[in-house]
Amino acid sequence: MNIKKNGISIFLEGDISKLPVVFIHGFPFDHNLWKKQISKFSLNFFCVAYDVRGLGKSDPGDGQYTMESFTDDLEMVIDVMRLHRPVICGLSMGGYIALRAVERIEEKFSGIILCDTRSNADSNEGKINRALAIKKINSEGVKSYIKEFIPSCFSEESLGNKKNLVRETISNSEYFSSKGVKGCILAMAGRIDTTENLSKLSIPALILCGEQDKISPPDVMKGMADKISNSEFYKIPKAGHLSPLENPDAVNKYIDNFLKKIDA
Ligand code: MLT
Repeated sequence: MNIKKNGISIFLEGDISKLPVVFIHGFPFDHNLWKKQISKFSLNFFCVAYDVRGLGKSDPGDGQYTMESFTDDLEMVIDVMRLHRPVICGLSMGGYIALRAVERIEEKFSGIILCDTRSNADSNEGKINRALAIKKINSEGVKSYIKEFIPSCFSEESLGNKKNLVRETISNSEYFSSKGVKGCILAMAGRIDTTENLSKLSIPALILCGEQDKISPPDVMKGMADKISNSEFYKIPKAGHLSPLENPDAVNKYIDNFLKKIDA
């Protein structure tokens, strides 16, 4: 089922009486990033996924976003859907949102799953690269930016052996509005560092990282896991930055064990 609230396109699958799991995709993608997880976990859990404002089927609005406004949108989804202590599951930019959400309102969640993400803010070099990305979109258009950026998220293995997946992922994002994509880039550049909060977390955390992830590499994610008292960390083989798409079987195995423990 698909509904729209406050300009946010929300996708619901599974039995509403079951433990809710909220999936937040990364940039520049939409809820389809989690399709292999939703099809499996909707059998035993209430799966809620939504398109981050500016991407997918959510309205771009004025294109002025912050990590704070993205976190407000997440809270709105939880409140509108009356979700009781969902597990939150975010990849990359979705992880930035999840990390800020547990910093603000940890009590609203029963667990956190972080895939291919990081808690530190952009370095100066990172911010300059965001500016270059916006410049490229302004001069060459969003389609050309997406065609160049998305392949850099995949592992060498996926680029060689999963050409259809790479093509599909690009074509799924090519229609995104340039206002929405640029707004997300600025929101990521302006996000705060959430590292200090990691050691304060008390909910269980599952940390997953593609072994060939160059954007949020395994040593960075292992460092995050080490700071969280109740955490498990696993590397996902044959995957880069998009582990839920590149190796869904391995990702699903770890998520399944984690959700079953929370739901026990
Ligand atoms: C993402 O996958 O969400 C982005 O690549 C993250 C980022 O650019 O920082």
